[in-house]
Amino acid sequence: MGKYNGHILVCGGTGCMSQKAEGIISALEGKLAENGYDQEIQVVKTGCFGFCGAGPILKILPDNTVYVKVNEDDADTIVNEHIIKGRRIERLLYKGEDGKPQDDKNMNFYKKQYRIALRNCGLIDPENIEEYIGFDGYQALGKVLSEMTPEEVCKLVQDSGLRGRGGGGFPTGLKWEFTRREVNEQKYILCNADEGDPGAFMDRSILEGDPHSVIEAMAIGGYAIGADTGIVYIRAEYPLAITRLEIALKQAREIGLLGNDIMGTGFNFDIKVKLGAGAFVCGEETALINSVEGKRGEPNKKPPFPSVEGLWKKPSCVNNVETYANIPVIINKGPEWFASIGTEKSKGTKVFALAGKINNVGLCEVPMGITLREIIYDIGGGMFDGKEFKAVQTGGPSGGVITKADLDTPIDYDSLKAIGSMMGSGGMIVMDEDNCMVSIAKFYLEFTQDESCGKCTPCRVGTKRMYEILERITNGQGRPEDIDNLIQLGNMIKDTALCGLGQTAPNPVLSTLHFFREEYEEHIHQGFCRTGECTALAKYSILADKCIGCTLCARKCPVNCISGKVKEVHVIDQQACIKCGACLTACKFDAVIKG
Ligand SMILES: Cc1cc2nc3c(=O)[nH]c(=O)nc-3n(C[C@H](O)[C@H](O)[C@H](O)COP(=O)(O)O)c2cc1C
Ligand code: SF4
Ligand code: SF4
Ligand code: SF4
Ligand code: FES
Repeated sequence: MGKYNGHILVCGGTGCMSQKAEGIISALEGKLAENGYDQEIQVVKTGCFGFCGAGPILKILPDNTVYVKVNEDDADTIVNEHIIKGRRIERLLYKGEDGKPQDDKNMNFYKKQYRIALRNCGLIDPENIEEYIGFDGYQALGKVLSEMTPEEVCKLVQDSGLRGRGGGGFPTGLKWEFTRREVNEQKYILCNADEGDPGAFMDRSILEGDPHSVIEAMAIGGYAIGADTGIVYIRAEYPLAITRLEIALKQAREIGLLGNDIMGTGFNFDIKVKLGAGAFVCGEETALINSVEGKRGEPNKKPPFPSVEGLWKKPSCVNNVETYANIPVIINKGPEWFASIGTEKSKGTKVFALAGKINNVGLCEVPMGITLREIIYDIGGGMFDGKEFKAVQTGGPSGGVITKADLDTPIDYDSLKAIGSMMGSGGMIVMDEDNCMVSIAKFYLEFTQDESCGKCTPCRVGTKRMYEILERITNGQGRPEDIDNLIQLGNMIKDTALCGLGQTAPNPVLSTLHFFREEYEEHIHQGFCRTGECTALAKYSILADKCIGCTLCARKCPVNCISGKVKEVHVIDQQACIKCGACLTACKFDAVIKG
């Protein structure tokens, strides 16, 4: 970055790329060249900025101006106005709730974030190893190989308090130490980039935006446990992340940061990439190992744990992408620094993917101990469309809902468990008053039931039976005994399923039943869905004080079940209504309601 006076950082993450960020980059480069500024200002295609909902997004340095919802046609104005005349373009600036433009230093979205794992995402060109090196890249590997024993590395990571970010929260340094202690001429270090949680894209963004941080960490881990081979298991649906990872691996090999005798220290290490077919269960470490070996992606019983008997029956260490992305910084800044961030038992930060009914959809990295309220209202910009917050699902299909009562709970592994959910890998789906909790539970159970590998009966058959009950309830055919059966089945599956998928699959049902039992009861006993989301239970009615008798709804109704004369209040025949919703769409006076 050195020789340029300024930079235009354009997000090259999957979200912005799908909105033609590549075209914006070419247009900017063209306009800069046309005006003779191409030697002064560099356009850099970076990884995700996190603020995906406002993409395509770019940032101009050194003045930190953030432009949002940019398109190709804006390139001319950006170069002519901002670069040449030094004038900010008002209409492209991000504006806060007060309507005032904000740069990235005072944007609420970033103010409470602490970016360690995402430190280089949105800052460097992930396809250029020199930029990674320019931001302290491979310094930690150099330090480890030249100054530390493997035992010291394991100890340092243990002292930092880093816990696995893939969901389980197991202490990383301890896992490394267990694998290190195994005596074997061949060991493996694996990176779990399967990321099967629907709605989560933390790991994809790290690999797209900063692949070298994972490569460097895997080399450090390889040295610590005594492995000369690393494997990144990544789902094939992540083409951009795979491409950038492959480029990064090639560059690291070219300058001797992978391969034989790394940095002249005698340490040999290289990394292979293995593509997964996108099965959720293959994120479970033993299923992942089976899949790498070319077997069916089914979990094995543990013990033996992979650290004792893993890939090809050799001691292996599996860690998550985000876990790895923290490692180089921990080595460079020291374990005490890392341990000073977060809570007593959960150190450092966590990346969350914010989705659902929230204003700022995207990725954020926050210190452990922050509250959900801060994430949703300060970083997430509050509820979309001013709607009422109802619940947030953390932990994806394995987690549970957290309600208003717990919005001020400081987030860490243990506190989320205590309130009936879990940290999981970082998916966070925010729900409002229009979300039916029975439908939410059904959505997650349909997912896990579909993804069950079928190896053990409680999960294969139990989740199917639970799903059938939920389907019945949402179709208006719920039975009085359904709630008790769901609880009993759910607990049985949790206790007897073979792997984490089955052991956690009932959680969304059990947790929504715990917090929103009355919604289940309404569906079953009153044939009523308060949100109208369950179409079969939806009830359309006409508000007498709003209906002006325009007749439009009656003319649109496919079964002619709306009666009323011109300029008189109309009425729906509930028995004949097929709940198609045409009247709701047709009425221009908000007289038709669904509920
Ligand atoms: C059904 C299931 C899916 C999982 N999916 C992932 C995943 O996509 N990524 C991940 O890192 N860990 C996933 N895990 C957790 C892994 O088994 C393992 O604990 C983790 O990769 C270890 O890395 P960590 O200690 O760095 O978190 C999954 C576990 C289960 C039971
Ligand atoms: S719990 Fe489900 S996913 Fe896990 S082994 Fe059993 S059937 Fe397969
Ligand atoms: S469209 Fe609306 S206002 Fe017109 S008759 Fe129907 S309910 Fe009344
Ligand atoms: S929901 Fe469809 S069927 Fe029912 S009253 Fe409205 S238009 Fe008619
Ligand atoms: S993909 Fe561009 S900000 Fe996330």
